[in-house]
Amino acid sequence: MSLSVGSIDFSREWVSSQPQPTSTAQISTQASTTSPAVAAHPRFRGCVVRRWSAVLVKDIPASWRGRAPAHHTPLGGSLTPTGARTGDRGGLASTDVPSLSSAVSAALAGAAGLAVVAAHDLLQRKHSILRNYPVIGHARFLLEGVRPELQQYFVERNWDGRPFDRDIRSIVYERAKGIAGEQAFGTERDVNEPGYEYLVHSSLPVPEPEQPPRVTVGGPDCTRPYSMSLLNVSAMSFGALSANAIRALNQGAATGGFAHDTGEGGLSPYHLEHGGDLVWEIGTGYFSTRTKDGDFDAAQFREKASYDVVKMTSLKLSQGAKPGIGGVLPAAKVSQEIAQIREVPQGEKCVSPSTHRVFTTPVQLIEFVARMRELSGGKPAGFKLCVGSRVDVLAMVKAMLEVGTTPDFIIVDGSEGGTGAAPLEFEDHVGMPLTFGLMTVHNALVGAGLRDRVRVGASGKVAAGNDIVKRLIQGADYTNAARAMMFAVGCIQAQRCHTDTCPVGVTTQSARRQRALVVGDKSVRVKQFHEATVAEAVKLMAAMGVRDPADLSPHQLRLNISPHENRSYAELYEWLEPGELLTDPPESWAGDWAAASADTFRPTSRRT
Ligand SMILES: Cc1cc2nc3c(=O)[nH]c(=O)nc-3n(C[C@H](O)[C@H](O)[C@H](O)COP(=O)(O)O)c2cc1C
Ligand code: SF4
Repeated sequence: MSLSVGSIDFSREWVSSQPQPTSTAQISTQASTTSPAVAAHPRFRGCVVRRWSAVLVKDIPASWRGRAPAHHTPLGGSLTPTGARTGDRGGLASTDVPSLSSAVSAALAGAAGLAVVAAHDLLQRKHSILRNYPVIGHARFLLEGVRPELQQYFVERNWDGRPFDRDIRSIVYERAKGIAGEQAFGTERDVNEPGYEYLVHSSLPVPEPEQPPRVTVGGPDCTRPYSMSLLNVSAMSFGALSANAIRALNQGAATGGFAHDTGEGGLSPYHLEHGGDLVWEIGTGYFSTRTKDGDFDAAQFREKASYDVVKMTSLKLSQGAKPGIGGVLPAAKVSQEIAQIREVPQGEKCVSPSTHRVFTTPVQLIEFVARMRELSGGKPAGFKLCVGSRVDVLAMVKAMLEVGTTPDFIIVDGSEGGTGAAPLEFEDHVGMPLTFGLMTVHNALVGAGLRDRVRVGASGKVAAGNDIVKRLIQGADYTNAARAMMFAVGCIQAQRCHTDTCPVGVTTQSARRQRALVVGDKSVRVKQFHEATVAEAVKLMAAMGVRDPADLSPHQLRLNISPHENRSYAELYEWLEPGELLTDPPESWAGDWAAASADTFRPTSRRT
């Protein structure tokens, strides 16, 4: 048996090593003296509690002692309610007094501790609640701390969790583990509520193709096109993700035959370790390819883009979770390793500015993307953006027409997209949701007669087969997933990615926490999640009577616009005809088309 006061242990060993008392007085003296460990302990040195406990033990009334429950003594055997050791008849057993004394000491020490906390709370000036409610006010901080877990485990329903609901998280985990991911008894969703969307099946489904379809990325100016999966790993940097997470994603991509976007944090050794196909992204910091002054370094870009594993290069203009702002990696996080990979000074704040140095006009943007393609030896080059306005997109399209070349791909990120860290205002209130961004880019390219030269990627909460099919209908050629891939490597949506305390090692730089993520095991999950999700998308398309994604049409996605009515995307939205903007822009597009200029990102006239 062991009783403890604070960190002090009244163990069987100590008790048995003491001379055994023969009278109550002796017991109380011994209790007041306590162990050498207690006496030596800084918290108890000269402590009044010790002296008080001696007095109290002496003064315990016999009646109170008599009510004590039977319990085991430190010397073995048990005490009767009168305090006698088993077998004794009446009287206070020699060994129950130190335990009573300890309990009293503990209570007093606790009270003293609370008094200290209360005094501190009353005097501190940072937290109003503690000044008014000392001690108990801490409960608020405690509950606040466990709120996400309480919400997730006890409050949220299967379909209404955010950002990803339990159904989606479960399906990703199950598919990643190679479990069927099926559901019994029917949908839990309200299929009549406004906003509910569904895919239109055919009365004559077609057999599924043996291999899932892929899409070739690379326009007429590209000499080394890349065959892209319908689902790929979206951009996430080393720094935002741990080394082990990057390794697992890359190994999954290598074994599963899909692409892994590096994110803007540079080309790290972890991206190169397993040989998965890479889309090398550069942002405004030009990490891994920057001069000392923070400019784009063409020579380095040429060298690294020539690596065999780099299949495409991508210029990041913006990201759905934080469009229009750059990023800062605090000085403390700029370790030697990150400094080396990003080519920035170690221990200094690492800033990604909000604007690029390589272009200021739409024409310069398109010219720069063409330069990336050339420097990479003809590999596909493109850009990623969250759409702000239609005029912005049309300005880029006009620049393509003027320069006479196009990017090989454009990745459209929705405002519902994720991030390692961003201000709430930007996450919640800036940028176009994926549905509208995607239809804008798709229609702008169609209307300008350029759609067949440019592939469109889509990212924004793609996690299941229906997400892929829906995005293909809305104008994408392929999709990327970031957070669903994080689930596949073990993310539990604790939403602490920015604190470096990720409990499962996905978004932390702490070597200890990263141990949680076993690369070999999680890479298999990434592969299996990808395979099963694409297979579901293919199965859905077959049920819709489609074998080739190019045959999907906006008629095949319907939206409830009220509890009593629904419409297809073909009816709800405008779909431009190829080249229509060049010849006779429809009235709804004419104002924006006129306002867009290849020479400026500022609209030149009033827009629609
Ligand atoms: C942890 C994390 C880091 C990210 N880092 C980048 C990045 O470096 N570059 C980028 O373009 N997007 C970045 N993103 C955005 C994703 O690539 C993606 O566009 C967005 O999260 C939407 O996809 P999702 O809904 O599947 O997560 C990041 C997202 C997350 C969650
Ligand atoms: S478990 Fe939490 S902290 Fe870790 S990656 Fe997922 S959301 Fe971020």
